[in-house]
Amino acid sequence: MTRKILVTSALPYANGPIHIGHMVEYIQTDIWARFQRHRGNSCYYVCADDAHGTPIMLRAQQEGIEPQELIDKVNQEHQADFAGFNISFDNYYTTHSEENRTFSEAIYCAAKDAGHIATRVIKQAYDPEAEMFLPDRFIKGDCPNCGSSDQYGDNCEVCGATYSTTEIKNAYSVVTGATPIEKDSEHYFFKLGDFTDFLSEWLASGSVQKEIVNKMKEWVDDGLADWDISRDAPYWGFKIPGTEDKYFYVWLDAPIGYLASFKNLCDRTGESFDDYWAESSDAEVYHFIGKDIAYFHTLFWPAQLKAGGYRLPTGVNCHGFLKVNGEKMSKSRGTFVQASVFLKHLPAEQLRYYFASKLNNTIDDIDLNLADFQQRSNSDLVGKVVNIASRCAGFINKRFDNTLSAELPDPALYAKFAAASEEIAESYETRQYSRAMRQIMALADLANQYIDDNKPWVLIKDEDTFGQVQGICTQGINMFRALLSYLKPVLPELAEKSEAFLNAGELVWDSVQTPLLNHEVTKFKPLMTRIEETQIDAMLDENKQVLEAIQAAADKPALSEHLVNDPIKPEITYEDFDKIDLRIALIESAEAVKGADKLLRLVLDIGGEKRQVFAGIKSAYEPETLIGKQTVMVANLAPRKMRFGMSEGMVLAAGPGGSDLFVLHPDDGAQPGMRAK
Ligand code: MSP
Ligand code: ZN
Repeated sequence: MTRKILVTSALPYANGPIHIGHMVEYIQTDIWARFQRHRGNSCYYVCADDAHGTPIMLRAQQEGIEPQELIDKVNQEHQADFAGFNISFDNYYTTHSEENRTFSEAIYCAAKDAGHIATRVIKQAYDPEAEMFLPDRFIKGDCPNCGSSDQYGDNCEVCGATYSTTEIKNAYSVVTGATPIEKDSEHYFFKLGDFTDFLSEWLASGSVQKEIVNKMKEWVDDGLADWDISRDAPYWGFKIPGTEDKYFYVWLDAPIGYLASFKNLCDRTGESFDDYWAESSDAEVYHFIGKDIAYFHTLFWPAQLKAGGYRLPTGVNCHGFLKVNGEKMSKSRGTFVQASVFLKHLPAEQLRYYFASKLNNTIDDIDLNLADFQQRSNSDLVGKVVNIASRCAGFINKRFDNTLSAELPDPALYAKFAAASEEIAESYETRQYSRAMRQIMALADLANQYIDDNKPWVLIKDEDTFGQVQGICTQGINMFRALLSYLKPVLPELAEKSEAFLNAGELVWDSVQTPLLNHEVTKFKPLMTRIEETQIDAMLDENKQVLEAIQAAADKPALSEHLVNDPIKPEITYEDFDKIDLRIALIESAEAVKGADKLLRLVLDIGGEKRQVFAGIKSAYEPETLIGKQTVMVANLAPRKMRFGMSEGMVLAAGPGGSDLFVLHPDDGAQPGMRAK
């Protein structure tokens, strides 16, 4: 009976690159998904970018592009990084999708119909210049406790104090530098308290680790407050049905992105969505997440699913945070390592193995010690595992015509490898990967010991013992094969190369139970190389530079909407510019044009010559107010025949249109006919 499983990892934000901290989670999930498939179970692994929210909106503005363009670009970068680490997603989508809009609206409407949505006016920090409400992390100022400047709106990185954004001194908006004001706004709330009993039951169901349950219980016991699920325009997200300028807070539609990504997969493959998500589903669903977002996944999300009429997850699996060299990942130390930079210098497989050797099913933080990473990859993978094959394969290739012997000389030893199968499976299944790696490496030690004891390189030299070498190496290669089968969820590339050498198709979990005998292998090629310290140094160096470049870009002031909506045109030469003849013009007369609702007819004097110009500025100017003023006109523009007469040039005005149009005037002293250049 194969199991039907769906797993997810948290959806990474689309406003930044993937770093190796993220990779702890995607590697942890991927190993589990690959393990399930290796065992013969059906296991889908879906994910998506978390593509909504203020930071994404503002970053797009800063880069002078539309949010859609930004999230498309980041989605490609993320997918490339994940592919580089061999993350085997069955679908990688985005929360900015029609599927997600549909599910989000449906869950919201179901909650609303059942009376779980409330509205109320609240006071919020507002940037009067950007004309937007400010999330806490977009307010900075002086710490009310220690006075340190440049601290975030809700906590001080210097003294560790936490406070509310109204307490911070000399507050300013990170967006414009303006002083935030308080402004009223109506918000929509999800009444989480309505789900108190339901959530208590869910927390007791064993689907969540004890440490997390205990923390969440504190929240439940303190009384679950209403959850603010709306944000005011301008916001990048989905509009709330039935409102004009209210949007779903990014965390409302983010987890719904799990449903949307899976739905997208189902529509592509014909898989049944309901088999996995209907209340009656007998499939297993697991979310892998970091401990920082447990609150969203073990309280809000189950309540959302309940409100929408969906089943609950079988498990929410939390992990701890990655440290590098014993400390929090740091931009200044360069240890905030980007996935793409890591991949340029170091092999993904080794990081997968290193994380596996550290991961278990608790929420303890894990440490990437770079010296230890190098040492352990080299000694375990190259020195122990791959070494077994390279010590045996050459003899089989060269001296025994690629052929394995018909029997194992030490079947009792091999039986230990086969017998470890269920213990190792149990370690993987329960996410105790570090235990699985220890179990596997203990077997690798046995295999190396066997070869050390039997010394095929000595026996091969003597006519009388030569014949034993085929059996010894067959034993070695079969033990190697068993190790590789057990390591396959962690090391998919190494497994694939080994499968090519073994020449017996794909390894499945139970392959180990039947040794390969009397079988022809292919020519052995080196499977893995050692990591050198210089690679790690080069990786850190490049990463520092990349981080500095990102910081410099982030420090650039945000582009105004004018530059965003109307980007600067491609460069021209001075000669190009000089072709345009701009002249100071006196507006002699200005009048509305019968039958044209946008145009004013202007008569301009450019120093003795008169020009008639029809200008599209009626929405912004009363004609009388223009008469007698000077402006600048394009004097050599080809005349254009209009319904109302000839238009003999253009006056210069700025602005997007409507009442936002501003005619240009020269400074005092300019005279009609002077050329502007
Ligand atoms: N967008 C939200 C998740 C929405 S899920 C419906 C988010 N994104 S994130 O990009 O900040 O993080 C994605 C995942 O990576 C989270 O589970 C987070 O815990 C994990 N990690 C981010 N940094 C990490 C480390 N330094 N170490 C381990 N995991 C880390 O949260
Ligand atoms: Zn402080």
